[in-house]
Amino acid sequence: MGTRILVTGALGQIGTELVEALAEKYGLGNVIATDVRESDNCRSLDVMDAEGILSLVEGEEITEIYHLAALLSATGEKNPELCWKVNVDGLENVIAAAKQHDCRLFAPSSIAVFGPDCPSIAPQVTPLNPATVYGKTKVVGEQLAMTSDVDMRGLRYPGLISYKAPAGGGTTDYAVEIFHAALAEGHYTCFVREDTQLPMMYMDDAIRATLEIMDVPAEKLGNARGGYNIAGCSFTAGELVASIQRHLPDFTCSYVPDIRQKYADSWPDDIDDDVARSEWGWAPKYDLDAMVDAMFTGLRS
Ligand code: NAD
Ligand code: SER
Repeated sequence: MGTRILVTGALGQIGTELVEALAEKYGLGNVIATDVRESDNCRSLDVMDAEGILSLVEGEEITEIYHLAALLSATGEKNPELCWKVNVDGLENVIAAAKQHDCRLFAPSSIAVFGPDCPSIAPQVTPLNPATVYGKTKVVGEQLAMTSDVDMRGLRYPGLISYKAPAGGGTTDYAVEIFHAALAEGHYTCFVREDTQLPMMYMDDAIRATLEIMDVPAEKLGNARGGYNIAGCSFTAGELVASIQRHLPDFTCSYVPDIRQKYADSWPDDIDDDVARSEWGWAPKYDLDAMVDAMFTGLRS
């Protein structure tokens, strides 16, 4: 039997596109998409159900798991206990199944592992003192990758920008919502300040990075394998507006910061991804304008 894949949290922003990419690479029949939400093309699986995960991994002869089920930063801060249960207990359940059945595991980390004491351009190695519960769960995830005796790999995804599925309750959601509002209403009320700069990435780059890191021979990956920094493009909310105005000159944006400003302020402006570049050849393809162009092409098609 060849590669057999389980995806958790498959109906989310990343899962929607990762399942497509995995199906193209390994064949649709070899990709088992699951989520706690119900849908036609997805099996029901709650990652807090350890037995359910085990029986699916066993029954479907799974060899690789892409574990995307999680609560993101803004949703997580509203319900920190649930965030910890889903993100940490859920991951531990997945690791246990991976260990028992010798599966390789991809479990994403995030720029949310960094805290206010991080330099504005986040190095790969720096103290990790996140300000959010979500960030703390991601630090634990990276530690588990190094200690769990499973071939487990992760990327510190920046804020991801895509058009096929809505963003799932994170701080960086403004950079996705803004496109829909620009096209529908010509105006967006942004929940972070105009000068807020964060590391972001177009989804095509994120999916490619995910497939690439899972293809790297284990011996090439070093101590960052639980959460490699990967940079896409870093920009302020105001710079995003200006890039959108190349397509929609009358588009306007006002800025009414809410609690998510605090989370954004605790994250770095940019990411130093030298380690990923040198260890496995990571390089992004989309800068700000290329990402904005691709978003409009996608949303208009
Ligand atoms: P999302 O919120 O869009 O999707 C998460 C999915 O998990 C949802 O479909 C949800 O229904 C499902 N889910 C929630 N609780 C579950 C449970 N108990 N059991 C099974 N499924 C459950 O999130 P996403 O953006 O697709 O993120 C996927 C992963 O990538 C997460 O680990 C997230 O932390 C990480 N990440 C995302 C971003 C981003 O900008 N999207 C950035 C950094 C890291
Ligand atoms: N995009 C995510 C969030 O804002 C970062 O992990 O929560």
